[in-house]
Amino acid sequence: MALSKLDQLYRQVILDHSSRPHHHGKVSGDLQHEIELNNPTCGDVISLQVKLADDKISDIAFDGSGCSISTASASMMTDAVLGKTIEEAKEMVLTFSKMVQGDDTATASLGDAAVLGGVAKFPARIKCATLAWKALYQALEQDGVASVNQLHTEKEEHHD
Ligand code: FES
Repeated sequence: MALSKLDQLYRQVILDHSSRPHHHGKVSGDLQHEIELNNPTCGDVISLQVKLADDKISDIAFDGSGCSISTASASMMTDAVLGKTIEEAKEMVLTFSKMVQGDDTATASLGDAAVLGGVAKFPARIKCATLAWKALYQALEQDGVASVNQLHTEKEEHHD
């Protein structure tokens, strides 16, 4: 079946981010938070660096290896959360997590990342799409791992 014009547009946005990812590399100056997280289904790893100033994300960058979906998602995530407060960014992670489970009712805050809502139809790719967002949540959480586990979806569990 031919892709609709909207599907083609979404695909192009994803390709643009994966081929020329934004905020790729390292943050400058003193580092405050660095998280390395892997996708257990493929072993791909993201390294995320976050700097905070006045309770806001003042700089963010990612590195590592991943597929087009995970790279595009990391690029979109860094665009979306730069300048946001910690609470706003954590809320965006939860919104993204819900979106890839099929709940796309509140995705306006996600910017380009909203185009990844289509991943809900491909459960095997959900972990690719959420990898960078989980890394961000972990970086922003004082107590890390337990809260990140809340982001695992039933679909993800189902396809492990
Ligand atoms: Fe490894 Fe997508 S296949 S992150």
